[in-house]
Amino acid sequence: KRPAGAPDKSLAKPVTKVGVVGAGLMASQLSLVFARQLKVPVVMTDIDQARVDKGVGYVHAEVDKLLAKKRISPDAANRTKALVTGSVSKEAFADADFVIEAVFEELQVKKDVFAELEEIVSEDCILATNTSSLSVTEMAKDLKHPERLVGFHFFNPVAVMPLLEIVRAPKTSDAVLATAFETAKALRKNAVLVKDAAAFVVNRVLLRLMGVVAEAFDQGTDARTADTALKPMGLPMTPFTLLAMVGVPVALHVSESLHAAFGDRFWVSQNQQRLIDAGKKGIWEIGEDGKPFVP
Ligand code: CAA
Repeated sequence: KRPAGAPDKSLAKPVTKVGVVGAGLMASQLSLVFARQLKVPVVMTDIDQARVDKGVGYVHAEVDKLLAKKRISPDAANRTKALVTGSVSKEAFADADFVIEAVFEELQVKKDVFAELEEIVSEDCILATNTSSLSVTEMAKDLKHPERLVGFHFFNPVAVMPLLEIVRAPKTSDAVLATAFETAKALRKNAVLVKDAAAFVVNRVLLRLMGVVAEAFDQGTDARTADTALKPMGLPMTPFTLLAMVGVPVALHVSESLHAAFGDRFWVSQNQQRLIDAGKKGIWEIGEDGKPFVP
């Protein structure tokens, strides 16, 4: 059955080579899923060789874990590893037909990436953004070919979360949207079309809960107490564990986008900012005494 809002699949074009801008955790997870499920070459780029090597290394290590668990055959493991390569130059995307960015969650950074990409990729190469909260419409504004941009938002951890939010900007073409839905299907993700609104759907809901917990944290509630108290609620992951996995900077950016759009309904946490300033990934990173980092 065609997902609601998905154009006819006859409009979709095959994806034969994928580019991933960024080689951080999200980008690395995306690269693995693309290589494993689409079985096409995937090239990751980042600003320096060390970051690129780390990203490719992550993919190889994850494939090895799958192999150890017998979740992937030795042949498929070797093939998947060989499909993922890295480069410090976006010129490597010249013959890609689908390039997705997973760089820093800031509008201008993403706009600059797309402007640079348009100088390199072919005219019909699809450009996708994995933004979790920013306006895809804004990102498309200065593009030469705004019809090629689509939001393609995965959830952490990408390997196991089945949902994918597909975001249509006003000028996104039916062909691009159809390709996005067919690609999602090939990736074995459940794609839903969402409006281009602050933080789309899932994060808008999730950040209500996370925001209340962050507010309590800022007002002095002990983080471990809050997590323990919320455990019986049936959450797959408690809020502070989820915060550490998603990354404090990402979570803070999403709450800032939501606060800008909806005001006080969404809390922007000073303690989260302090964690970032202190270079902490999450509160559980600290404390040989078992106590969380208290900013
Ligand atoms: N990478 C790869 N695989 C992972 C993984 C990771 N980071 N974490 C868990 N897995 C795999 C495990 O290896 C395991 O696979 P096998 O069955 O093959 O062994 C499987 O997932 C289940 O893991 P566990 O049994 O250890 O743990 P679990 O039952 O608690 O499930 C979970 C793990 C699916 C991650 C679950 O805890 C969960 O759903 N957590 C909530 C995640 C969530 O809310 N994500 C959305 C975050 S918001 C976001 O990402 C959006 C944004 O833009 C900010």
